[in-house]
Amino acid sequence: MAKLKFSNIVLSLLLSLLLFNFIIDLEASYQDLNQPYRTGYHFQPPKNWMNGPMIYKGIYHLFYQYNPYGAVWDARIVWGHSTSVDLVNWTPQPPAFSPSQPSDINGCWSGSVTILPNDTPVILYTGIDQNKSQVQNVVVPVNVSDPFLIEWSKPPLNPLMVPNAVNGINPTRFRDPTTAWLGHDGEWRVIVGSSTDDRRGLAILYKSRDFFNWTQSIKPLHYQDLTGMWECPDFFPVSRTGSDGVETSSFGGDVKHVLKVSLFETLHDYYTIGSYDREKDVYVPDLGFVQNGSAPRLDYGKFYASKTFFDDVKKRRILWGWVNESSPAKDDIEKGWSGLQSFPRKMWLDESGKELLQWPIEEIETLRGTQVNWHNKVIKAESSLQIHGVTPAQADVDVMFKVKDLEKADVIEPSWTDPQKICSQGDLLVKSGIGPFGLMVLTSNDMEEYTLVYFRIFKSNDTNTNTKYVVLMCSDQSRSSLNEENDKAAFGAFVAIDPSHQTLSLRTLIDHSIVESYGGGGRVCITSRVYPKLAIGENANLFVFNKGTQSVDVLSLSAWSLKSAQINKESMSLPFIE
Ligand SMILES: *[C@@H]1O[C@H](CO)[C@@H](O)[C@H](O)[C@H]1NC(C)=O
Ligand SMILES: *[C@@H]1O[C@H](CO)[C@@H](O)[C@H](O)[C@H]1NC(C)=O
Ligand SMILES: *[C@@H]1O[C@H](CO)[C@@H](O)[C@H](O)[C@H]1NC(C)=O
Ligand SMILES: *[C@@H]1O[C@H](CO)[C@@H](O)[C@H](O)[C@H]1NC(C)=O
Ligand SMILES: *[C@@H]1O[C@H](CO)[C@@H](O)[C@H](O)[C@H]1NC(C)=O
Ligand SMILES: *[C@@H]1O[C@H](CO)[C@@H](O)[C@H](O)[C@H]1NC(C)=O
Repeated sequence: MAKLKFSNIVLSLLLSLLLFNFIIDLEASYQDLNQPYRTGYHFQPPKNWMNGPMIYKGIYHLFYQYNPYGAVWDARIVWGHSTSVDLVNWTPQPPAFSPSQPSDINGCWSGSVTILPNDTPVILYTGIDQNKSQVQNVVVPVNVSDPFLIEWSKPPLNPLMVPNAVNGINPTRFRDPTTAWLGHDGEWRVIVGSSTDDRRGLAILYKSRDFFNWTQSIKPLHYQDLTGMWECPDFFPVSRTGSDGVETSSFGGDVKHVLKVSLFETLHDYYTIGSYDREKDVYVPDLGFVQNGSAPRLDYGKFYASKTFFDDVKKRRILWGWVNESSPAKDDIEKGWSGLQSFPRKMWLDESGKELLQWPIEEIETLRGTQVNWHNKVIKAESSLQIHGVTPAQADVDVMFKVKDLEKADVIEPSWTDPQKICSQGDLLVKSGIGPFGLMVLTSNDMEEYTLVYFRIFKSNDTNTNTKYVVLMCSDQSRSSLNEENDKAAFGAFVAIDPSHQTLSLRTLIDHSIVESYGGGGRVCITSRVYPKLAIGENANLFVFNKGTQSVDVLSLSAWSLKSAQINKESMSLPFIE
């Protein structure tokens, strides 16, 4: 039994399997509460990675990847664990489990929780075995009456699923089991991410009557050529009517299905909407969707390895994603931590059936302090208005824009098909008829540093479609910091709304080093990481701006100061037990 103090633990973030090795020295980090980039209300475990979030007996659980051993990464990843009653404030718990069997001796990697009908949660996870093969294992709670589920045990059955020459699965590409769902025949199903040697990405399907004895199906649930490894797949139903979530085994005319995969080759999360054919046990994306890098993304910024769970208390599906740093590893070491979770987002199917909508969970309201409200303000051409009265570095801003005279919009260049490229053309230098207009956040007093989240509206060049306008949303970090070493890409996406009939909304959560934005009512999300040198704390400023040649109306604006949540505060003294 070794007791390790947090202050000398070095942590590393392990990307599902291999690579991304963020060596983190926690020395000094937790004591220094004035660290400018440490967030106030975004979940920051000592180290993090998305495993299985869930709610059990009214308690929310978040499990994350954590390496408590030694000064260098040694693959002995364990499942870190925190609990919450509101998804906002988090209490650290001892790690749920760690490598201990031949089937996981080289690491306990990502996985998911399933709650069985007798109200027993079980976790399927990827273990790295003695031979460095990826295999799927199970753990069960020791005491199901304990709502905090502190102790977990591994039945002697592990591993439950193995790659081998017979099933043709590559042992280095077989990971991240999903939450299982129950078929009409009483059998459980689960998918595991994989790929073939010629880059066909696969969601391999397994079935079981008892959850322990699993049989591989001949056909995968879904596959797509030339996509490479599928990490952290997520497969779940969404209601066709309304924003309530549905339980993972739901099936029928009232639901569509969603398949999300994290493409290892691009490090982005893509989803398709489609139908689950229960007879053939395959998923068929709707017309227009292909499960590859052309599919819509859950977030067009920094966001990977996301996972959802169904909250049966509030009847909603909640999405979390892992938000990487954009700073060099040496800065992560200096600040003593790396990686965040996105703010938890409620997710549901839009009325059109063609896209998913996301919105920060309502519990964010418990953090709100002072509020500023505007109504019907005109932002004239090439001007800006400062939002006074809220803490600019830790705030929630919700704006409704309306553009009266869309006739002045420029026609989009036919070659401008890649939104990220348009957003990268150099922020304010690119003037157009309508926009850029939006929020200028984390802005220094002399405007040497700022991060822009904005829209531009163009007339469509394509006469074959009935969309008359193209709405572009950008989150531009290029001027976010005087520090030139950070990744300061601009991110962007098109927003599928018609500005001649609909108002254009922008909700942005600002939290020191993360700017998380929801455009068009949650149709497009973009998360940025920024590290200003000057626009820190009270020296940051917040504006609504309009650099276009036409004025823009702010129909309404609400902004709130947000308090800090209590997140893993006791972790400094929490002993870790091997
Ligand atoms: C590891 O590989 C060896 C040699 O191929 C084999 O005999 C053994 O069964 C394997 N162990 C596991 C846990 O698969
Ligand atoms: C199981 O958990 C319950 C609730 O926390 C507790 O009352 C009970 O003592 C625990 N049982 C054991 C055997 O630890
Ligand atoms: C596991 O399930 C398969 C297929 O249903 C069955 O053939 C096999 O006998 C089962 N094995 C055990 C140990 O129950
Ligand atoms: C996705 O697949 C479609 C259909 O095969 C193809 O046209 C498109 O180029 C692919 N996109 C990417 C990014 O691979
Ligand atoms: C994390 O961010 C770094 C720095 O921007 C980048 O090099 C790396 O590819 C990112 N990793 C993922 C998984 O997004
Ligand atoms: C669309 O672009 C093409 C090619 O540049 C151009 O010839 C055409 O006039 C444009 N259409 C409209 C409606 O502006």
